[in-house]
Amino acid sequence: MTLRAALVLHGPNLNLLGTREPAVYGRVTLAQVDRLIRAHARRLGARVECRQSNHEGQLIDWLQGAEREGFGGVVFNPGAFTHYSIALRDAVAAIRLPVVEVHLSNIHAREEFRRHSVIAATARGQIAGFGPQSYLLGLDALAALGRPRR
Ligand code: DQA
Repeated sequence: MTLRAALVLHGPNLNLLGTREPAVYGRVTLAQVDRLIRAHARRLGARVECRQSNHEGQLIDWLQGAEREGFGGVVFNPGAFTHYSIALRDAVAAIRLPVVEVHLSNIHAREEFRRHSVIAATARGQIAGFGPQSYLLGLDALAALGRPRR
């Protein structure tokens, strides 16, 4: 299946990639991650848009608007919201587009509080632990899924 357009959402603190806890997240900046994402989307023949916000409500608005904006799916790194934002979980459950949850780090190999994702059950799947590659695998997953569920 072809993926025409994907929305990539980065949650809180991901704007600090490159300098933020490099032992966990590496030294690659968000701008560099976005470049990798755009290059991969080109290989898939898809349009991609990358956005980052530190604000829960902004992420909810983007999720709610994604289908209206013409995207076929969302690759979403909710950052720390992963572990407690029922509002983001409800937004993912409310929209028809497939959402792939991604994480740079392997959240299951870290502190206890990171091992649970409140988003995961509403996402189509989760990819964690592959650094920036997690986003590219997320795009591959959307491309494999194809059309939005009805
Ligand atoms: C993260 C993992 C979260 O636990 C953390 O709060 C983040 C980044 C990741 O990509 O590994 O901000 O989502």
